[in-house]
Amino acid sequence: MANQYFARKPLALLLEEMRGENRLRRILGPVQLTALGVGAIIGAGIFVATGAAAHNVGGPALMVSYVVAGITCVFAALCYAEFAAMVPVAGSAYTYAYATLGELFAWIIGWDLVLEYAVGSATVATGWSGYFQNVLQKIGVELPLALRESPWRYDAAAGHFLSTGSYFNLPAIVVVAVVTAILVKGIAESASFNATMVGIKIAAVLFVIGVGVFFINTENWRPFAPFGWSGISFFGHQVAGQTDPGGSPVGMLAGAAIIFFAYIGFDSVSTHTEEAKNPQRDVPIGIITSLVVCTVLYIAVVAVLTGMVKYDQLDINAPVSRAFQQKGIGWAEGLIATAGVAGITSVLLVMMLSGPRVFLAMARDGLVPQSVFGTVHPKFRTPWKSTILIGCFVSVLAGLLPIDALLHLTNIGTLLAFVIVCAAVLIMRKKHPEAERPFRCPWVPVVPVLGILCCLVLMFSLPVANWWRLGTWLAIGLLIYMFYGRHHSVMAKMAAAEKKAP
Ligand code: ALA
Repeated sequence: MANQYFARKPLALLLEEMRGENRLRRILGPVQLTALGVGAIIGAGIFVATGAAAHNVGGPALMVSYVVAGITCVFAALCYAEFAAMVPVAGSAYTYAYATLGELFAWIIGWDLVLEYAVGSATVATGWSGYFQNVLQKIGVELPLALRESPWRYDAAAGHFLSTGSYFNLPAIVVVAVVTAILVKGIAESASFNATMVGIKIAAVLFVIGVGVFFINTENWRPFAPFGWSGISFFGHQVAGQTDPGGSPVGMLAGAAIIFFAYIGFDSVSTHTEEAKNPQRDVPIGIITSLVVCTVLYIAVVAVLTGMVKYDQLDINAPVSRAFQQKGIGWAEGLIATAGVAGITSVLLVMMLSGPRVFLAMARDGLVPQSVFGTVHPKFRTPWKSTILIGCFVSVLAGLLPIDALLHLTNIGTLLAFVIVCAAVLIMRKKHPEAERPFRCPWVPVVPVLGILCCLVLMFSLPVANWWRLGTWLAIGLLIYMFYGRHHSVMAKMAAAEKKAP
């Protein structure tokens, strides 16, 4: 049985499967893939998380945090790109792990990716709600308190969760339901809708930089790193830097662990490999171009924001649009909040598109039920049942949990996936040096090793509770694998049939 845990899916079999039935349509080119990447990347991270991260954790040094997180993602992106070109089928890191590390690791990473995409979608939906309510306020509408947000909120000064007086976050639930309906209908429609949203979002970001730069007061950048430069804890034991009253690390590095969320999404380009017209060339282009564009924009936005408004006066729910209101430019606030709503919607779209595709890949391997997760709609050609199932799960999370808890959990799960992908590149190079690699990650083993180290440091810069939450999620996943996946694994069945054959 131990052999099954480490059974690898042969590369040849993966490529053979691509020729089979039940495939997704190949309709995406390099521009659409880059747009999907940017659509997945710029969103709640820069528009929302920047506020609390600068306010409570990083100060103006959050600019440097964006550099650190961006570099970490480049290392991981180069590894992702190598795999995406080599194994151009849906499923992203899950498929890569199955080809290199074996079934058990593949299961762990697949389950972890579902966490990333589902909890990430809930985070984004909650951020969307903040900007949507900002737009409503601009036109004089205020939602009743009971429907505005999660029932709990983390108070950084007190270091624990407080009751908000709300019952649930209604706008977040509604937007998840609408996006789910769009996704069930189909990716072609989703991609063109996404392209419009991405255009609006980039225009908004350029507007913030272009207009905001005239309101920078360099005095606001002093002190530059009020919470210090590090912030690392090892399972609750502070290793470097300061903590907040709740014991969570603060400082530039801790800020990087939080705003890392703003970069999540480039990896989702690789989950669309199966829908790409020329995956070997276009997927690496899509991943790397979108990441570089976003890094430059982020650093500029944070420099402008922390220059416009003192870090400790930045708003927590809609910091970018509110900064303009704080400077007395009310019309710009409305414009940015509206564009923020559009931009964050496009992230939600891409994130919610990705989870069902990971499940689709797992269902084809028999690790989750084929009848639910493996069926593609006969007319729309979308994995509609799992899209609806994940949509329901996301709306519950988004309706009830506070944004910071969701964001931290997404980050730790994604960082774990990156660690595994970087490790898988190293293993694959050693075990299959001869395999065709249309895109080669440069400077191996340096890049994957640095990727692993940077991701681990960021994981240890997050509040410790996230390790326990991640562990619980993975433990639930392992139980499902033990009781379902390993008994239905297509690879295991093939191995058993081979043994029986004379
Ligand atoms: N990077 C995406 C965002 O910031 C997840 O919303």
